[in-house]
Amino acid sequence: MSLDVMADRATELFARCFGHPPHWLVAAPGRVNLIGEHTDYNDGFVLPMAIDRHIVIAGDANTGRQVTLHSVTTGETATFGVRPKVERGEPGWSNYVRGVIAAFPEPRKKLAGFDAVIESSLPYGGGLASSAALEVAAATLLEAMTGQKLDPIEKALLCQRAEHDFAGVPCGIMDQFTSILARENHALLLDCRSRTTTPVAMSDPAVTVLIINTNIRHKLAESEYAKRRSQCEAAARALGVAALRDASLGALEAARARMDSVPFRRARHVISENERTLQAAKAIQASDWSKVGQLMYASHTSLREDYEVSCPELDTVVEIAHAIGAAGGVIGCRMTGGGFGGCAVSLVQTEAVQRITRKLEELYEKRTGRQPAIFSSRPAGGARVLRSS
Ligand code: GLA
Repeated sequence: MSLDVMADRATELFARCFGHPPHWLVAAPGRVNLIGEHTDYNDGFVLPMAIDRHIVIAGDANTGRQVTLHSVTTGETATFGVRPKVERGEPGWSNYVRGVIAAFPEPRKKLAGFDAVIESSLPYGGGLASSAALEVAAATLLEAMTGQKLDPIEKALLCQRAEHDFAGVPCGIMDQFTSILARENHALLLDCRSRTTTPVAMSDPAVTVLIINTNIRHKLAESEYAKRRSQCEAAARALGVAALRDASLGALEAARARMDSVPFRRARHVISENERTLQAAKAIQASDWSKVGQLMYASHTSLREDYEVSCPELDTVVEIAHAIGAAGGVIGCRMTGGGFGGCAVSLVQTEAVQRITRKLEELYEKRTGRQPAIFSSRPAGGARVLRSS
């Protein structure tokens, strides 16, 4: 569904729900991470890009003190007050918006009640940062409604805080940053410590980014995420560094005898993944696609073996892509996002997209009994106001 179609649908539904057209229409994209997984909360490097799938919100201030949110995807409506303060509540997805309102800087005087319709072309829980896109879209709407433009980094941190405090997920900064700072036709090399970004052009028409949704989400994803984070912190303490970003493979090897196997392997993933991410950014800049492919496969192996966040369905996708290989037009493939289901990302030769898609569909279904959802995306731009009237 194109952004225009989404915007029209949200506008129409808003008018039907609230009796007048919306004043604001905003959009925020999801993301796919090309490489640099589980490195953001270790002060490391990530290389994501925004995708052409969005959360769109149609909204307008109301004269009351209540916020009413209607989700097109779930058909649910959330209603809550903003004073004296915003509380967590049902339905679950509304917490991403509640959290953003709660974290929005004072003075919030101008922020009383508002009405909104939320439309999405991102699979919910599909590992493409649909929750970050909802937070960022909500923050963009609040900026528009209050006339208070936030610094982009402050805005990303505010959205991350919403996710920590209202959704209980101790996520890193990659998803919110990407949804705000992404540039069309570019991936972003993000240094999660200094919070500086370097755009990396991804405009070679011969190369296509393919996203393969396994259509599975294992339940332990969230609890295992929090566990990985604390295992990394323990490993950093054992190595005497502030964050795993500061450790080298040599120092890790030297500490092997006094470290347990689990923190050792978690650290080995993070340290090597940071290195792979920097190398991949250089290789993309040099159009050295076979190098990029090798790094993607190595990233997947490290996530499967050392970090243990893959799952049989993601491994199956990567195995099929690897077997099609360079001869069949596949450059590289790996799981993307937090893991335990969700999506894999593959770089492929554009002329082979259809053949590869058919092959992946056929073999994935044969081996797992499930149908994958496969689509391609050019790198999209960041969140923006689409219309105001
Ligand atoms: C989720 C989190 C991100 C990041 C990835 C793993 O998407 O929201 O902050 O940690 O997992 O790379």
